[in-house]
Amino acid sequence: AVDPRLQGISDGIRVVPHFPKQGIMFNDITPLLLRPGVFKDAVDIFVERYRGMAIAAVAGIEARGFIFGPAIALAIGAKFIPLRKPKKLPVTAIPDICFYFYCTNVKGEVISETYVLEYGTDCLQMHVGAIEPGERVLIVDDLVATGGTLCAAIRLLGTPYILNLKCILNGTLDPL
Ligand code: PRP
Repeated sequence: AVDPRLQGISDGIRVVPHFPKQGIMFNDITPLLLRPGVFKDAVDIFVERYRGMAIAAVAGIEARGFIFGPAIALAIGAKFIPLRKPKKLPVTAIPDICFYFYCTNVKGEVISETYVLEYGTDCLQMHVGAIEPGERVLIVDDLVATGGTLCAAIRLLGTPYILNLKCILNGTLDPL
């Protein structure tokens, strides 16, 4: 049987042709957010699906993954990790550590992944140390189009290195 909540969610998504560029059909979730019951239904469906699955962290993709991700994280008892666009996460004055081991996209306290979008390229960044090896992570965003953003998030979260800057700085880094 089809979940009766899905119709309200579908009705809350407005399709805007040619935004932000010619040829792009933009799916706008902001009408859904104006209907508290429907917003709650959208969150609840994910909570029902992922509660009890030993998920340690919810990673939300900027920007709209920040709307749904924290609500889901709180409800399933997981931590929330923001996957941010470039130059948003603060870094202290730690030297570039990419020469110290094979993972070349780690700079200071932030790890980056660049990806191709329907309308250009972009980059996602995560703080080193946000997840521990072996933790199960749920990635949340509003939609998948080409899948480029989601693939970048998966690469970011699955990069095979120990996400612990202290180990790198004190020389006890143990590559996976
Ligand atoms: C949109 C959407 C996803 C991504 C999906 O974000 O929120 O994150 O595109 O596209 P893809 O599957 O082709 O990668 P957008 O790039 O518009 O960024 P924004 O959330 O910062 O506006």
